[in-house]
Amino acid sequence: MRELMVAGNWKMNNTIDEARGLVIRLMPGLKGIDGVTMVLCPPFVALESVGLLVQDSGVAVGAQDMYHEANGAFTGEVSAKMLAGVCEFVIVGHSERRSIFGETDASVGRKVAAALEAGMRPIMCVGEKLDERQAGAAEDVVDRQVRLALEGTAAPDGLVVAYEPVWAIGTGMAATPQDAQSMLAHIRRLLSARYGEGTTTGIPLLYGGSVTDENVAGFARQPDVDGALVGGASLKADSFVGIVRTVAEVGQG
Ligand code: PGA
Repeated sequence: MRELMVAGNWKMNNTIDEARGLVIRLMPGLKGIDGVTMVLCPPFVALESVGLLVQDSGVAVGAQDMYHEANGAFTGEVSAKMLAGVCEFVIVGHSERRSIFGETDASVGRKVAAALEAGMRPIMCVGEKLDERQAGAAEDVVDRQVRLALEGTAAPDGLVVAYEPVWAIGTGMAATPQDAQSMLAHIRRLLSARYGEGTTTGIPLLYGGSVTDENVAGFARQPDVDGALVGGASLKADSFVGIVRTVAEVGQG
């Protein structure tokens, strides 16, 4: 059976107090929803506070990045082993990490492998830029990103993949549900070829990029879209609850 999932990427927003406030506003709405894995990804400093507030509620917590080494002289970095004590998920290879902080396909691959090894669930992000789509190279770019990000991963148990076209992130210009479906179906084929047919139902495939409570139903209706990775709309309690509720209703329907 497919695992449905909605993850909120708060990015560099919310102090610890603001994070607590948002969780307190979210919880009444999220509590009644079944059948969707719900993940909140606050900044590092708020992971523990958010984790305490959602304890035993069925809502999970995720970090937004990590480093692949377990420990050592890597000033400013946090390892999967450290995160595994505070949260279950970690976003890896987000396009902002790639474009602003210079992450490469190879470094994303090391992070995915290290996260899985530490028993965490990486939400591995891939997606093409606008000029790459316009040049007809979107599938080739995503092929390369998926292949290199999984190079060191023999068993993908726990993996989540998010297709986030860069041009759709934070722009209000979401991909069409058909574009999301077609790329995620393509990614499912890549994963099947690499790991075997049966394994891909255990890997939630998410769409991300300007998802809102208004447009999410169109994505959730697609056969290869198992949910969403949400940025901006995850900072507003009503919008995020609406997105999760819609994925629960439409995705299971
Ligand atoms: P957005 O961000 O929903 O604000 O477009 C998505 C993301 O970056 O994960």
